[in-house]
Amino acid sequence: MSILFITHDLTIVRQISDRVCVMYNGKIKETGFTKEIFENPKDDYTKHLLSSEPKERDLYYDKNGRSILSGDNLNVTFNTKVKVSGRNKVLSINAVNKISLHIKEGETLGIVGESGSGKTTLGQTLLRLVDRESNTDVEGEIKFFDDRIDHLSRKQFKPFRNQMQIVFQDPYASLNPRLSVKQIIEEGLIVALNMKDKNERLNKIENIMNEVGLEPSSMLRFPHEFSGGQRQRIAIARSFVLNPKFVLLDEPTSALDLSIQKQILELLLQLQKNHKTTYIFISHDLRVIRSISHNLIVMKDGSILEQGVAKNILTNPQNDYTKNLIKSAFDIIY
Ligand SMILES: Nc1ncnc2c1ncn2[C@@H]1O[C@H](COP(=O)(O)OP(=O)(O)O)[C@@H](O)[C@H]1O
Ligand SMILES: [Mg+2]
Repeated sequence: MSILFITHDLTIVRQISDRVCVMYNGKIKETGFTKEIFENPKDDYTKHLLSSEPKERDLYYDKNGRSILSGDNLNVTFNTKVKVSGRNKVLSINAVNKISLHIKEGETLGIVGESGSGKTTLGQTLLRLVDRESNTDVEGEIKFFDDRIDHLSRKQFKPFRNQMQIVFQDPYASLNPRLSVKQIIEEGLIVALNMKDKNERLNKIENIMNEVGLEPSSMLRFPHEFSGGQRQRIAIARSFVLNPKFVLLDEPTSALDLSIQKQILELLLQLQKNHKTTYIFISHDLRVIRSISHNLIVMKDGSILEQGVAKNILTNPQNDYTKNLIKSAFDIIY
């Protein structure tokens, strides 16, 4: 069978294709054998693309810093009602299986694992975003600095909520299409921070838009008028305007083209530096994870397979599953 495979993911292109066409602005910029194009790109755009691949870099954080967020023996089970041959049954999925972890101030903890391994559930559990009532069982202790937060009521939790924000994968789905950029960013200032002064809010909005690389004069425009990368900047501005201590980044670059992905990663690193923010960075992409994480958790089927300093795990994996992950991400097959 012949395959025409369309993607923005260079790792996959490298592994799957014999020949490649590089497109830009409706034109084929370069075409040829995969190995030749990756080893010796001729076109400027191809060169730019290849240089946009996330690289390893020296990341610094204070290893003696305080623990900002920790989970002890976290366990999450979703109980879903299903019908099996006319009878009601309950299907239980143990999405997070007795996981313990702690995150230090200023650190980025990467969480990597295949789709369905429990990454999102783990992140959202730590931020109290997984519903504890309904059909979900959540167990385990969660601490924000020295405070237990796992058993707090919604109202008791509110002051903590403002300090913990989240950025989702899909900047198309996560922004309300009926609100302007200004309204999107302003909402948190009103609801979470109860900021009554209009001018003070406007000032905050302008500052954060500048900081994330958006033109403040565009604040009255709506999300559909922006590109994917710009929308992710809006989502990042919405989180950072509250000056959070902690941000959960759930696959924030997975929907973006490589060169845009690079810009967003740079922005997140810059913001972390300026605000000393702590991150959990969830991704299925080891290259992205390597370029941003100090420490790393490898998950599969709700459990942690490997946990430690990112560099050590990536250069010296102990587990066969991790070894395979690394091989398919970095072992370039020509
Ligand atoms: N609200 C839910 N109800 C039932 N099952 C869920 C729910 N959310 C996630 N799951 C299941 O839990 C497992 C882990 O999902 P998730 O945390 O989204 O994984 P990942 O983010 O690694 O792709 C999957 O089997 C998924 O189908
Ligand atoms: Mg997920």
